[in-house]
Amino acid sequence: MTELDAVIEGTGHFLPSNVIDNTHFESFLDTSDEWIQSRTGIRTRCFAAENETTSDLAIAACAEAMKNAGAGPEDIDLIVLATSTPDYTFPATATLVQNALGIRQGFAFDIQAVCSGFVFALASASSFLQTGAATRALVVGAETFSRILDWKDRSTCILFGDGAGAVVLAAQPRGKSQPRRGILASDVKSDGRYRELLYVNGGVSKTGTVGHLTMKGKEVFRHAVSKLAVSTNAALDQAGLTTSDVDWVVPHQANVRILNALMSRLGLENEKLVSTVATQGNTSAASIPLALSMANSKNLFQDGDIVVSQAIGGGFAWGTCVMRW
Ligand code: UT7
Repeated sequence: MTELDAVIEGTGHFLPSNVIDNTHFESFLDTSDEWIQSRTGIRTRCFAAENETTSDLAIAACAEAMKNAGAGPEDIDLIVLATSTPDYTFPATATLVQNALGIRQGFAFDIQAVCSGFVFALASASSFLQTGAATRALVVGAETFSRILDWKDRSTCILFGDGAGAVVLAAQPRGKSQPRRGILASDVKSDGRYRELLYVNGGVSKTGTVGHLTMKGKEVFRHAVSKLAVSTNAALDQAGLTTSDVDWVVPHQANVRILNALMSRLGLENEKLVSTVATQGNTSAASIPLALSMANSKNLFQDGDIVVSQAIGGGFAWGTCVMRW
């Protein structure tokens, strides 16, 4: 039987036009541009306008990904959208995107794995594609985290931004002597014991409110570096590869110090790191597809390059995808 690979055919991204620099926070918090840049690497982030929703950002990113893939609405039969900031409690934001893009077949659903949502979405979509349950998917990360920030908490509200990124992922038959392409392996994990370190203190069933993000940053930082390094090695091992095969690391963009520590833990030089945190901050599930799309639009990746993306967030939930471009 012919094996199917889940291959990235196109990428797209969208950022709101409202760019916020660090001095904005100096007017109402005891903080400084110097502290934010030196502790996080963040210089600016984008915030959605009042009437701009997560689905608006996702639709723009998906439209660009479809254009770059040469895919029309009739070609897409799956949408997996990762978000923790959906437009509505229901229906899924993915179905809003499906309708807006004129996609009339297949199925669409949301994934809630916070900052690691895009890794979970890629793993999930690739399973549907490799088993023949779908033929071509939009895999999206889209967030309006500005809606759940506590503006009185200087240790969190300076970190996050809004945005969306998307890839078109298609099932492609593998030729007899061809190596596997696209998504080669995924390592996905969660451990609910860490809930208190990073969570939103509201929700439909518990409080009937949206709530605000709260985080014990130092502890999350420590877990991030160690868990992401272990997960990267596990996913590479699954793919029959080692760190020496890696051409690019496109991780979740939380803090430049986490990214540098991860690269050093993996024994990889920083030239292989794709980092967008300076101009976007942490966009949660959107950060990996945003970084992938921005790098791809500059033709950074060559055919055959090994790209790894890893993320960790609330839950904890974390994981890694290994791709052959
Ligand atoms: O995407 C999900 C995953 N999230 C992450 O991976 C985030 C992980 N954590 C981090 O990125 C970092 O821990 C932070 C950027 C959140 C904080 O950096 P840190 O180097 O761990 O600082 P800290 O929390 O140890 O705080 C050091 C000091 C504290 O003051 P004292 O207690 O030493 O007097 C904080 O109150 O910095 C203070 N501080 C600030 N000062 C100025 C915290 N936030 C600020 C701020 N401006 N915005």
